[in-house]
Amino acid sequence: MKAIVAVLPGDGIGPEVTTEAVQVLEAVGQRFGHEFQFSYGLLGGCAIDAAGNPLPAETVMLCQASDAVLLGAVGGPKWDDPTASMRPEQGLLGIRRVLGLYANLRPVKLVPALLHASTLKPEVLAGVDLLVVRELTGGVYFGPRKEATPDDQVAYDTMLYSRPEIERVTRLAAQAARERRGRLASVDKANVLASSRLWRRVVTELMRAEFPDVALEHVLVDAMAMHLIRRPAAYDVVLAENLFGDILTDEASMLAGSMGLLPSASLGEELNPHGQPRGLYEPIHGSAPDIAGRGVANPLATILSAAMLLRHSLGLEAEAQAVEAAVDAVLAAGLRTPDIADGAVEVVGTAAMGAAVVERL
Ligand code: IPM
Ligand code: MG
Repeated sequence: MKAIVAVLPGDGIGPEVTTEAVQVLEAVGQRFGHEFQFSYGLLGGCAIDAAGNPLPAETVMLCQASDAVLLGAVGGPKWDDPTASMRPEQGLLGIRRVLGLYANLRPVKLVPALLHASTLKPEVLAGVDLLVVRELTGGVYFGPRKEATPDDQVAYDTMLYSRPEIERVTRLAAQAARERRGRLASVDKANVLASSRLWRRVVTELMRAEFPDVALEHVLVDAMAMHLIRRPAAYDVVLAENLFGDILTDEASMLAGSMGLLPSASLGEELNPHGQPRGLYEPIHGSAPDIAGRGVANPLATILSAAMLLRHSLGLEAEAQAVEAAVDAVLAAGLRTPDIADGAVEVVGTAAMGAAVVERL
């Protein structure tokens, strides 16, 4: 197969981790006989510096002309001035929005080799295998907003959802549940928020009508924050609106051992020429400016995001599994980046970790 992948390295450790993921994709191409072409674009802080815009029009065009997008991370102290008119994060939210990527899939699976490195007890972590589906283009991230002015010192953000927005992401989550263990936990705050009451009603109605075979439960977001630590193995697919999903997935990343391990896929309705969703793939972690440029960042979340790219945007399931198996093998062999180094056999940097995955492939 021939495929075009847009690569948006972004800021901080973004370029370091995407370099490794591209090398893994190149190795997959060689081993399985595919031709992947990579085209690079600017997003986030580096785009503000170079083009005066966190999401330049060329970057949007580049993504639209590709089969899938691989993204590193955006942001950093250089662009953190709260009074600045442009923020790197606007680039990230903007590209999700213009590509119509309403569903963000964040799988969280226990890595057996890291069981004893976790801050949680092994018996709590045993059997953890969940998929968080986060709504990505609605809610309080995109609702009407007002910044405070020096005069009024009043600000607000609005959590706004419509029935179709809730329906499409619920459908995608329920479909995933059907292909997994057949259970869906929908997260909301229906005891307080109007948008959550609509969320709960729409999810209930849609599931009854279209997915009677999938077991549905509603969980309040504060309770879910607790359950994820107390009995994480009890969940299969967890569906949440944008902000709740953002918060819960940072929490859930600790179930896998590190933020540096969690990949994500953002999908929408638009299909690429392969007849698959033109997705965007990124680690759930940020740009980690504190360790940027030092060659110590963990590239595995981005490498695993590349595996999701192979699976969801190119339909290359065997190739995706080969990458995941290579990552498992490297971890089982005892290789660790510093973020997961507790009691490690061999602590390595970003490039050596990437090279080890390539070698296993
Ligand atoms: C994430 C990140 C982003 C988000 C930030 C960087 C805007 O935290 O992908 O989870 O909040 O969506
Ligand atoms: Mg986040």
